Amino acid sequence: MADQDVQTPVGGEPPALSVLRWDELPEGPVLVLLDQTRLPAEEVELVCTDVPALVRAIRTLAVRGAPLLGIVGGYGVALAAARGYDVAEAAGLLEGARPTAVNLGYGVRRVATAYWAAAEKGAGVTEAATVALAEAQALHREDARASVRMAEYGTALLEELLPGRGYQLLTHCNTGALVSGGEGTAFAVALRVHRQGRLRRLWVDETRPLLQGARLTAYEAARSGMAYSLLTDSAAGSLFAAGEVDAVLIGADRIAADGSVANKVGSYPLAVLAKYHHVPFIVVAPTTTVDMETAEGTLIIVEQRSGQEVTEVTSPGGVSEGAGGGKVVAPLGAPVYNPAFDITPSELITAIVTEEGVISPVTGVGLAELCARSSQV
Ligand code: MRU
Repeated sequence: MADQDVQTPVGGEPPALSVLRWDELPEGPVLVLLDQTRLPAEEVELVCTDVPALVRAIRTLAVRGAPLLGIVGGYGVALAAARGYDVAEAAGLLEGARPTAVNLGYGVRRVATAYWAAAEKGAGVTEAATVALAEAQALHREDARASVRMAEYGTALLEELLPGRGYQLLTHCNTGALVSGGEGTAFAVALRVHRQGRLRRLWVDETRPLLQGARLTAYEAARSGMAYSLLTDSAAGSLFAAGEVDAVLIGADRIAADGSVANKVGSYPLAVLAKYHHVPFIVVAPTTTVDMETAEGTLIIVEQRSGQEVTEVTSPGGVSEGAGGGKVVAPLGAPVYNPAFDITPSELITAIVTEEGVISPVTGVGLAELCARSSQV
């Protein structure tokens, strides 16, 4: 495809996705989630009235993606406080729902700390619950602002690395409005490039086994009107070899102090491919995803998920059956290796883009300086 083929966005923007909202019903407050297991077939809301329901939503990936897990964790604590449940117990349940995305624990602890600080200063239960909700809302707003900044820094970086051209970008998993208080992380960069009329194509990895790329990123890309194509994860290699990828943009679930990045399984092979083909490999994540307490990537706990996600080719929720239908595809009892994430070492990463700026090359020192800067704001 020639550079003149760069697509100019036409028509209006679609309405923003309502991914999560706090609602006050006559029977009490609730957290309303867009059930991501049902996308793209149906936009169905999931109403969570208590923490166990939220934990189920997190485990089944009805709500998912690192930044959104942080926001949900925060609101989960606020929900427990508002409904008079034990906040410490709720915080423990929420934080333990999934192990890899550091944002979940961050959101939970931040709101629980605000609640306890208010209680310690003599606030009653209702007042402390109001403080908790305000903290969750602040986290939600901050994430939306971070998303805007990451998109700005990310597009500036692409212009610096690949000046004066349109891009074919490859992404993995789902990193858009469905995982964020705003328009996302890596996807927000692609969206901004699209709005600038410089996105030639977004290559969307289907992202086996739960198909976050096929179901969710393709859904967001189609809504935005950008040029995109879906590919199987294993087709990425031949795409690089054909010279059809200008840069890889992915998100992160946890960034260790040495700059290694945990992200959806399949990210590491893309980084190896990108290195071999001299293509920039860019990680886009808010500073809330950086975990300076985990010294190195090998120490990150990688969630292992059920083997059924691999032995059965089905959609996780109510997605309609295609011509092939959902089926068991492996022999009964087949042993399975199903890590949800993998770790990409810093030497394979061209840059990490955050709301506080860009680190390139990616080093532990650069990351520490960035985090020091972000804690001063
Ligand atoms: O298992 P998921 O769907 O929660 O995994 C999500 C990812 O791996 C995303 O790439 C990551 O959270 C970054 S989202 C900004």
